[in-house]
Amino acid sequence: MTERQILVAANWKMNGTLETIRPLMKSIIEGVQGVTTEVAICPPSVFIAELAANLDGSEIKLGAQNVSQLEKGAYTGEISVSMLKDFACQYVIVGHSERRALYAEKDLLVAEKFIAVQASGMVPILCVGELLEEREANDTETVIARQLDAVIELAGIEAFKNAVVAYEPVWAIGTGKTATPEQAQEVHEFIRLRLARHDNQTADIVRILYGGSVNAGNAEQLFKMADIDGGLIGGASLVAEDFLTICKAMR
Ligand code: PGA
Repeated sequence: MTERQILVAANWKMNGTLETIRPLMKSIIEGVQGVTTEVAICPPSVFIAELAANLDGSEIKLGAQNVSQLEKGAYTGEISVSMLKDFACQYVIVGHSERRALYAEKDLLVAEKFIAVQASGMVPILCVGELLEEREANDTETVIARQLDAVIELAGIEAFKNAVVAYEPVWAIGTGKTATPEQAQEVHEFIRLRLARHDNQTADIVRILYGGSVNAGNAEQLFKMADIDGGLIGGASLVAEDFLTICKAMR
């Protein structure tokens, strides 16, 4: 079995102003020195340039929260992969549940974004996850399989060699209700097995992050699970001390 390096990625969502992100960024840069975990920050896109300038020389990777599937053109308000590349972004979150639910992003569009990100040489962080009513109806695996298969079909299994999957149960995002390590592990294992149906080796190397109310107190228990390879952190990534504790949580 491959030893997968833990990845902790901050998703700042639509939070912060220059005044608040500058000290946050500074504390994170200083605090992660010597940490063996891979750390990434996905700020709001207008702050990408600011972070790019400050992260130069730091181990922290830069990411984006969203991108257009299209190359360029008359698409008011959109941002292209080449723009993100200009600022040395390495990761792009695609298919976050907030984009799926609030901006009507469908599986096919998510798959197209995944492909655009990879084609540009960046790494997609593909989010999948079920709603509370889907879990209660015992549909968790059906939903996750559908979301994964849409991307496998369009991008091919090989594409997952250079991708990250994030399991984010929608009922756990921003609610303070974390999935238990066992609940999360069960779905992470399902995701890995789903990928293994196509290719064992790819399934073995792909990192599967957990997201949904990860905090300084629960990260370590989650990261100890066999198929949990790190976290996608929302709320707790806005508090330097909490985020740093999560970055230091070991397997
Ligand atoms: P949360 O968000 O940590 O605030 O629950 C996680 C996410 O949506 O990526």
